[in-house]
Parts: sequence; C-alpha cells; structure tokens
Amino acid sequence: MPTINRFADFHDEITKWRRDIHSHPELLFEVHRTAGVVEEKLKEFGVDEIATGIGRTGVVGVIKGRKNTSGKVIGLRADMDALPIHELTNRDYASKTDGIMHACGHDGHTAMLLGAAKYLAETRNFDGTAIVIFQPAEEGGGGGREMVDDGMMDRFKVNEVYGMHNFPGLPVGEFAIRPGPLMAATDVFEINIEGIGAHAARPHDGIDPIIIGSSIVQALQSIASRTVDPLESVVVSVTTFNAGNAFNVIPQTAKLTGTVRTLLPEVRDTAEKRMSEIVEHTAATYGAKAQINYERNYPVTRNHLDQTVFAAKVAAEVVGEDRVETNTPPLMGGEDFSFMLNARPGAFIFVGQGDTAGVHHPEYDFNDEIIPIGCSYWAKLVETAMPAEK
Ligand code: NI
Repeated sequence: MPTINRFADFHDEITKWRRDIHSHPELLFEVHRTAGVVEEKLKEFGVDEIATGIGRTGVVGVIKGRKNTSGKVIGLRADMDALPIHELTNRDYASKTDGIMHACGHDGHTAMLLGAAKYLAETRNFDGTAIVIFQPAEEGGGGGREMVDDGMMDRFKVNEVYGMHNFPGLPVGEFAIRPGPLMAATDVFEINIEGIGAHAARPHDGIDPIIIGSSIVQALQSIASRTVDPLESVVVSVTTFNAGNAFNVIPQTAKLTGTVRTLLPEVRDTAEKRMSEIVEHTAATYGAKAQINYERNYPVTRNHLDQTVFAAKVAAEVVGEDRVETNTPPLMGGEDFSFMLNARPGAFIFVGQGDTAGVHHPEYDFNDEIIPIGCSYWAKLVETAMPAEK
C-alpha cells in the first residue's frame, strides 16, 4: 500500500506550513512562535486536548480514536528548533532571522506531524489514543529530557513512542532503521592544565602546559586504538585547544574541550575512566596538575526490538518492503529522542530526503517532496498499532 491519498490533498497546505516555519526559525527552548503555530493548528484540527509549556516550550496534542477499547496510547514525536547557522539557500522562504536557520529539517518534522494530526483528527480510524509530541531544544538543549522530566509519559499514559528524522543521501521514498543502538551517546569534556609560566627562551624555569596538552591530545587517541575493542565504536575528538597569547611567553594554563561518542554503556564507562587517568597521569609526568570535567550529555538512541520490527513493517506498507533498510549502520551523531526511548519502548526511523546538502549545512533545505511519505508513515503507524477493525 502506497502513501495515503488524503495527504496528496494536504500536500500544498503542509508545504505552506513548513515554509512558514522555515522563514521563522527559533533556537533551543525559545521556540515560542513555532509552538504557538503548532497550538493554533491543533486547535483548528479539533484535537481532544492540547497541553503547552511541557518541558518549558513543548506542545502535546491528544487525539482519541473513534473507539477506545484497546486502552493503548501511542506517542509520535517531532522536534521544532533550528540552528545558529546563517542560511545560504536563497529560497524565497529563507530565514528572516540573520544567523539562525532550519538546517536540520525540524521545520519539516513539525509540519509532517501537524499533517498527520490533521488527518488523524479528521478520520479517527483507530482504537486507542494518539499523542502528538512537539519538542523544543533537540540541538543540544535536551528538550526531550525536559519533557520526560516534566512527567509527560505518565501524564498522557504513553505506552510506546516513535520518532523520525529526514536523512540526506537516502533516496526519497526509502526508510532506514535498525534495532539496538542507532545513534551515539554524546558526552562533552573540558580539560584544564595548570603549568608554570615562563619566558619562552627559558623553558626550564617553567612547566609548559602546551607540551602537556599536546601529549594529552595524542594519548587520548589511544582510547580508540588501544583501550576499546576494535569491533566496538568510540570517537574521542579534541575540538578546541586554547593557551597563551604571546609568541615569547610560555603560558601558565591551557584548556582543551571536545566530545566523546559511544554506542554501548560499557564503552562509555571505559572511555570516561580512561580519560581521567590519561589526563591526570600525563600531567603528573611533567610535574603539573590537570583536571577533567566530563559531562554525560545525550544517551545512546537505542531502538527497542519489537517496536523497530513494527516500525519497519509500517514503513514497508508506505513505500514497499524493498525500500526499507532494516539494518542501517549506526551513526556517531546524537539525538535527544534517546531520553524518550529510555522512558518508553519505541523506535526512531530515518526517512530519505534525497540528494541534498547535509544536515547542519548552510545550503540545506528540507525536501517538501517527502511530506506525504512522512505523514503516511505516522498515520499508518497509529492505524496499524491500534486497528479500529479487528
Ligand atoms: Ni535534527
């Protein structure tokens, strides 16, 4: 079965919503206008209940099926926030705010879930309750965590939760998913090295934090190459190194920051522990002190097996079985839908966005062609998980 015909009728309308949101991008939790648009549309569709201010600026809509004998509640989640990037698409609906743009397609995710909400509120051809979740601050702010911490899952009695992200490079009309780890845990660290400053021509009078920092950067790479099993995944990237401000002065301190990506809890634990040892002991060999602040950010986005099999089946109903990759390789990027998957069983799926600029690129733009596909996936997921006729 292909896409649902009703979405062909809605395609232009949903495209208009998407482009309007695209023109007015907002960052992190400051998605006030976008959340307002979502609330207004949900009202217009006649959903049964709307809750705002969940996880600060998140919006939740409740849509009851025409029957509720199953008692099931399925959550569908979209993200609403944009990125601090200056847009270079030259579209007539390009960002009206300098330095902020929808470069990850969250405008499209929001519009597609609104499209699905409109259809589900109109047809109600299911036995149970659909919850549409619009979250703020996916791009680093942990909006997913805030909504879960706000009690969303219990308040709306959500049984299962599903997420979807567009995927540049995956052809339009294809989906990709896998059970287990799909995206990485994204931790961040800051290393402070305390040396002793000196004249650059008299290094023996001081302790050079730049030499120590360089040794630490090198040694941290041994976590991936010599500590962790080569068949497991870990990335340690030092992304900033700041020290000194004069060519003839050995500075007193150096500061490094970066990120660690892992797919398994035990590898994450190992990386964190090993980093502390390397930082502390490397500094000690030079007679200096160094200290690391390691912060666990987003957890691994781990798909639950039964829900992944189910999501792949629904995707296959929309685009055909041969167009759903069910064992796509995991990505080392992060996703805060992980907090929702830690709270309830569910699955995150990628929908093909075609051959476009990559996400987080200034020339990226969500591909409106995929709207009926994404909307159909959401609608079929609800109708299949909670069928009205048995
Ligand atoms: Ni994204």
